[in-house]
Amino acid sequence: MSGPSPNPRRPEGTYDVLPVPHGSQPEERLAGWLALESAVRSVCARYGYQEIRPPLFEHTSLFAKSTGEVTDIVEKEMFTVPSRGEGDSYTFRPEITPGAIRLLIENRLFQQKAFWKVWYWGPNFRYERPQKGRYRQFVQMGVEAVGSHDPLLDVETMAVYAEILRLVGVMKFDVRINTMGCPACRGGYREALRAFLEPHLASYCGNCRRRFERNVLRVLDCKVPEDARRNESAPAIADQVCAGCRAHFEAVQAGLRSVGLAFAVDKKIVRGLDYYTRTVYEFASPLLGAQNALVGGGRYDTLVASMGGPDVGAVGFAAGAERVLLAMRESGRPAAGLPPPDFFAVAADEAARGEIFLAAQTMRAAGLSGDLDYERRSVKAQMRAANKTGARYAVFIGAEELARRAVKIKRMEGGDEGVMSLDEAIRVIKGETR
Ligand code: HAM
Repeated sequence: MSGPSPNPRRPEGTYDVLPVPHGSQPEERLAGWLALESAVRSVCARYGYQEIRPPLFEHTSLFAKSTGEVTDIVEKEMFTVPSRGEGDSYTFRPEITPGAIRLLIENRLFQQKAFWKVWYWGPNFRYERPQKGRYRQFVQMGVEAVGSHDPLLDVETMAVYAEILRLVGVMKFDVRINTMGCPACRGGYREALRAFLEPHLASYCGNCRRRFERNVLRVLDCKVPEDARRNESAPAIADQVCAGCRAHFEAVQAGLRSVGLAFAVDKKIVRGLDYYTRTVYEFASPLLGAQNALVGGGRYDTLVASMGGPDVGAVGFAAGAERVLLAMRESGRPAAGLPPPDFFAVAADEAARGEIFLAAQTMRAAGLSGDLDYERRSVKAQMRAANKTGARYAVFIGAEELARRAVKIKRMEGGDEGVMSLDEAIRVIKGETR
C-alpha cells in the first residue's frame, strides 16, 4: 500500500517569488523584483538600449562555440536536453550573450544598421552547487553594445550598471577592470603561461592538466585551492598586451576618470568565458559574502564575426539580479511595497452580489484597481478583508443602494462615508472631486 505522496518541493537551487510583503529572502519578494526591473528598464531606455527577448533555450552548439568548449559553464554546468531527432541537443541558456548575438545576426538586424545597443532580462540555468547568492535558475539583466570598438562604449556600459545600482540604493561597490588583449597578443601570452605552468604541471589537478593542452587560459579559472594559490604568481596578460590593446585600456581608464567612476586595475581578472578581448570588468559588493560578484562584463571583438556576423567590436555585461536584491537589502533600501488597491467592493447580501460584481467591473474598466469577495462572507468579514488588502475605499451595495441605484463609499482612512451614483464614486476615488 502506498502512503500519501510527499509534499511537492521545488528543485534545489531555485526559489519562489511570492505575492506577499514578507518573503524571508529578498529574491522571494515580488516588490523587489518589480522595483529592480523598472530601474533597469528606465536606465537602459535613457541610454538608448532596446529590449530583446531571445528564447530560454538554444542549440547546445551555440554555447560550446561561443561561451567556450573548455569552460566550467559548458563542461559542467549546462542543463541540456535531447532535441528528439532534430540533430543538435538543446541547452537552457547559461548566459544570454550568445543568444543575443545570434538574434542580431539571424534576424539580419545588421542590414538595417551597423550598430546596436540592446538589453535583456530573464532566467538563466547553471548546474552549480547552490549557496547564498548562487542558484541553478537565476535572473540576469544585461546589455550588449554591438558594432563599435570605441573605448568610451566600455565606459558607457559600466556607467549604465553603476547608475542602475545607485537608482536602487546600492551605493557601495568596487569596480575592477583588466585587459585580456586581442588575438594578436594572446598567442605570446599563451606561450608565457605554458612556460610558467609546465615545470609544475604534474602537481596540478587533472582538470588543469587537460586544460593545459586544450585551452591553457582556462587553467586560471581553477578553484582547487593549491592550484589557485600557484596561479597567483602566473604571468599577467595585462603585462604582455600589444600597443593597440594598451592604448585602448588607457582610454577606458581615462574615460572612467572623466565620468567619476572609481575603479581599480586588477590583473587577476580573466573571466571564465572564452569570448573576451581587451577590457574585462567586475563589480563586487562589500556587503555580500562569498558570491559578491554583482556583474561581469567586457569586450568581445571577435565573437560576432566568428558567429557569421560582421567583423565588429562589441562590449556588454550581465548582472545577477538576485545578488542585487540582496545588496539592496544590505544597503538598508528594501524596495517599497506595491501601491494599495483603490477599492474593495462589499455586498450586503446575496441580492446585492450581482450588482456589486458589475460595479467592480465598471470601476476596473474606469482604471481603478480593486477586488471583491468570492467566498460569500458576512459584511463584517468583507470589511475586514477590505482592511487587509489595504484598499483606499470600501464600496458597498445593500438594499437601500439597490433601490436608489447607488453605492455607498467609505474612505478607509478617516472613515468619511457617502451615498452616490457609481459614476460619482469613481470620480471621488480617482480624486477628481470631493
Ligand atoms: P558571468 O560572469 O558568467 O558573465 O555572469 C554574470 C553575472 O551573473 C555574475 O557576475 C553574477 O552576478 C551572475 N551569476 C552568474 N552565475 C550565477 C548563479 N549561479 N547564481 C546567481 N547569479 C549568477 C556572463 O554571463 C556574460 N554573459 C556577461 C557578459 C555580457 N559579457 C559580455 N556581455
